[in-house]
Amino acid sequence: MKRLNAMLASLAVAAGMTAQTHTFDINTSKVGGAIPSTMYGIFFEDINYAADGGLYGELVMNRSFEFPNHFAGWDISGKVTLKDDGPFKRNPHYVRLAPTGHGDKHTMIENRGFFGIGVKGGAEYRFSVWARVPDGGTSKLWIDLVDNATMSDDQKLGNAGVEVSGKEWKKYTAIIKPKRTFAKAHLRVWGDSKVTTDVEHVSLFPVDTYKGHENGMRRDLAESLEQLHPGVFRFPGGCIVEGTDLATRYQWKNSVGPVENRPLNENRWHYTFTHRYFPDYYQSYGLGFFEYFQLSEEIGAEPLPVLNCGMSCQYQNDIKREAEVHVALDQLQPYIDDVIDLIEFANGDPATNMWAKLRADMGHPAPFNLKYVGIGNEQWDYKDNPAFTKRLKIILDAVRKAHPEIKYIGTTGPDSEGDKFDLLQPRMAELKVDLYDEHYYRNEAWFLGTPEAKQRWGNCGANRYDSYKRGKGLPKVFAGEYACHGAGKKWNHFNSALMEAAFMTGMERNADVVEMATYAPLFAHVEGWQWRPDAIWYDNLRSFNSCSYYVQQLYSLNKGTNMLTLTMNGKAVAGNPDQDGLFASAVFDKNSGEVIVKVVNTGDKAQNVTLNLKGMKGDHSAKLITFHSDNLMEENTLDEPQKIVPQESSLTVSTPSFSASVPARTFYIYKIVK
Ligand code: AHR
Repeated sequence: MKRLNAMLASLAVAAGMTAQTHTFDINTSKVGGAIPSTMYGIFFEDINYAADGGLYGELVMNRSFEFPNHFAGWDISGKVTLKDDGPFKRNPHYVRLAPTGHGDKHTMIENRGFFGIGVKGGAEYRFSVWARVPDGGTSKLWIDLVDNATMSDDQKLGNAGVEVSGKEWKKYTAIIKPKRTFAKAHLRVWGDSKVTTDVEHVSLFPVDTYKGHENGMRRDLAESLEQLHPGVFRFPGGCIVEGTDLATRYQWKNSVGPVENRPLNENRWHYTFTHRYFPDYYQSYGLGFFEYFQLSEEIGAEPLPVLNCGMSCQYQNDIKREAEVHVALDQLQPYIDDVIDLIEFANGDPATNMWAKLRADMGHPAPFNLKYVGIGNEQWDYKDNPAFTKRLKIILDAVRKAHPEIKYIGTTGPDSEGDKFDLLQPRMAELKVDLYDEHYYRNEAWFLGTPEAKQRWGNCGANRYDSYKRGKGLPKVFAGEYACHGAGKKWNHFNSALMEAAFMTGMERNADVVEMATYAPLFAHVEGWQWRPDAIWYDNLRSFNSCSYYVQQLYSLNKGTNMLTLTMNGKAVAGNPDQDGLFASAVFDKNSGEVIVKVVNTGDKAQNVTLNLKGMKGDHSAKLITFHSDNLMEENTLDEPQKIVPQESSLTVSTPSFSASVPARTFYIYKIVK
């Protein structure tokens, strides 16, 4: 019966009838080029409270009193004074808690966390503090986790005490077990009522971090990353790589070594958008390059650090002031050293290199096996001034000499097309970068590649990469930041994710030229976001994966190992005038022996399709994964995190041909055991 349907459908196509069955011809006996293992990955930037207040497990904001407003995040009472001759050179401030001299009038500091401190009843939290008794002797600090927002009889959720002794600075720790769950707790540190005590680096972490590291990551968020099975992990951004000025660029060397001595950096996302202004948003660097490498390893992704190329953010700095805002060409050595030293930090021998030794001292003597380094984020050239490429060339010449084994990544700037892109794309080839980083935050039409979008933007949609030059010595593509920003609505509703699924069929079909792709941004705190859509959202206790997350996951889990050719009615699918809203691609997975066919119906009608699997016959067991929402504007939320998730069913298909109806607005994945 199924075969008869397929025959009828093909006849209908041949006769040019409408509402026909579309026939996908997939040659399963001719396995094509390999799909890079890095193909689908993640882009991490400390935007939207992604690091501090997000993935990084620290629950205390401004723990070292180094914010420009030294008491930002803290309420103080009694006799509290700020001092600046503390034990950590790069974070010299601390506070002195002195007795008030009055019985019930206590000295106390209270931290509000990041939008409060989320604690779970019965779970353990590790409090730590550096402290001393400046006059000698001993003192006692009392630590309370409190709920002073709801009208409970007793504000205390949990408490602990630490005995401090002697004039020397020492680290003290205590475990606190809150008796109930509360998303907006505060942390109080009470001074001794008789003895002056100095405190510095006041910290609180859940004991149950991802993989149990003390300076660890929030478990639910890191597990969401792990479950994406990312092939590559790009860090630390984004614009924060560049900095508003060079002084505030991300400096990886400040982000390694003991956390107490990592200096604070500004976070440009605190002020970039005045409608989402967060004056208390800084980078503690507690989640630094060691932690990024460690996390990459633990979630099974290739690490991909991006470093500054001697330029601050070009959006924010007029090139007419080039000499002031960017590094002079003969002053690039520190930027070259940053790349070379980073490669040594990741891969070098601790016996011969100080950066490699630091890695070993931090607990990872084995190399991290770094293979890729990006140089520059959204940089560009001007017609009369190759501002970016002249710097990139100097850096590349030097770092390639020192480390020819690394793949270096350049950029085609902030746009997917236009003057900047057109200037840079051939220059990346001239400079022989291994890959270039492309960014596109565009609307539905761009992702679909509609005729109107092509007229406006040129090369867009799922056949974007069909025309890319490929061949030995030519750079590959790293789609380093992309997401569908729905026209007028920029959040994570189902429709945007569906557009991304359609577009990604083009990445998959062109896996010989697209080596890696990372949806962006990754994380957002529901109270602290600056930019949306994002892959994963959370508050202080809960999190959920967006529809776009699931599309990324579906591609990543079903990326296969090799490309297969696929045509629709004998022609390419994308850009086909009879496309009827359909997009498709096919791969083979040598490990599981499955033929994996992705079909995205972006139209508002169900479409009949016939899958013609050349090289197969007989009945085969299969799985069908369906990602669908009846309402295009629906999205997952904290309260309904599982509203729209992929569904899987088992079936048997008869080959070489079987037919199906793909519902409107649906992403289908067939996994057929060959
Ligand atoms: O992902 C948010 C920002 O978008 C990145 O920082 C920047 O690279 C891009 O413009």
